[in-house]
Amino acid sequence: MIQVAVMGYGTIGSGVVEILERNRKKIAEAVKEEVHVKYVLDLREFPGSPVENKIVHDFSVIEADPEISMVVETMGGLNPAYKFVKACLEAGKHVATSNKALVAAYGTELLQIAASRNVNFFFEASVGGGIPIIRPLYTSLAGEEIQEITGILNGTTNYILTKMDKEKATFESALREAQELGYAERNPEADVEGHDTCRKIAILTAMATGHEVDYQEIYTEGITGITDVDFRYADSMGTSIKLFGSSRMEEGMVHAWVAPVMIGPSHPLYSVSDVYNGILVKGNMLGTAMFYGSGAGKLPTASAVVADMIEALTSKGHAVMGWDDNRLKLDHMKGSRSRFFVRIKGTAQERQEEAREVFGPIQVIELEHLDEFAVITEVMTEEEYENKAACLQGIRQRIRAEI
Ligand code: HSE
Repeated sequence: MIQVAVMGYGTIGSGVVEILERNRKKIAEAVKEEVHVKYVLDLREFPGSPVENKIVHDFSVIEADPEISMVVETMGGLNPAYKFVKACLEAGKHVATSNKALVAAYGTELLQIAASRNVNFFFEASVGGGIPIIRPLYTSLAGEEIQEITGILNGTTNYILTKMDKEKATFESALREAQELGYAERNPEADVEGHDTCRKIAILTAMATGHEVDYQEIYTEGITGITDVDFRYADSMGTSIKLFGSSRMEEGMVHAWVAPVMIGPSHPLYSVSDVYNGILVKGNMLGTAMFYGSGAGKLPTASAVVADMIEALTSKGHAVMGWDDNRLKLDHMKGSRSRFFVRIKGTAQERQEEAREVFGPIQVIELEHLDEFAVITEVMTEEEYENKAACLQGIRQRIRAEI
């Protein structure tokens, strides 16, 4: 019998315990031994729950128990998760985590400690919830030069944007629903300001390139500036607005960014709605592959943690995956190229020529009952856009457009 510990009995941690019980037979077959949860670390008590008698409040009980060979970290946040995970790896225990903040901030160091102790530090659940994406990058796609990863990587914001698009819901009511459904981070700012997506695209970029990525260098724009008026325009054009995390390797440069993007129905990520995530991976031999599934939520995310547990418990020592500490140089957002959707104060009749002089060829969109119009520009760099836009008064909104 293999004894494991779960640190953090919140949404994901309780999901892991539930899956280990519900799929007990299947998991025992895969591991070739029964997997038993010996401890659950949490500040709270859970009277009447299945883990009532396993709760410990003192981490050192887990750290010091030689019977525990595998620890699951589903606490979230950096403190005390970092300290505890590091101590577990140093004590020669495998760790599986769903904590993208931890992986983005300390992944390099934790991977190195795991390698030095011949154990595994796995984090499939940290990106894309239940969707296999980390493991495919170092197994199935190991022989590819990855040229692009673009994804809808945050279930909460995708849920909000879908509700605003399809049901004309307000931002606030859609966020509340996402929180009630257990998709949102403890602090919703991490979702809606794009920080969660930023950490996920940092992890994917590090996996794809094999080098450490400083997530703080990634240009990050959330969805708090997207309004019902933007969706009225999107609706009239048959487009939608999604929050993308993207990393594009072009001519030796890597552009990584997080921003809302207007896309049309022919874009492969167009129909990724609600809490679902979708991730496009472009390899130099493969072409484009798409990974799609439940990007957040208790059981899907816990399922990825359990898969990591099985791999760790059946692997012979340390699996070669992750990245080195040779930090990747990211290029400035200003050099990345796209079209732009721009809303301008005034009527198209009065101002479209002025907009054309500034931006060059444009497509003009007018809606009834608005004191403004919108244009779609040609493809240009962010820097070119900013220089041009500085010459035009009354710009109310600008969204990258891949249509
Ligand atoms: N808050 C995250 C999301 C949870 O909505 O995608 C899963 O990482």
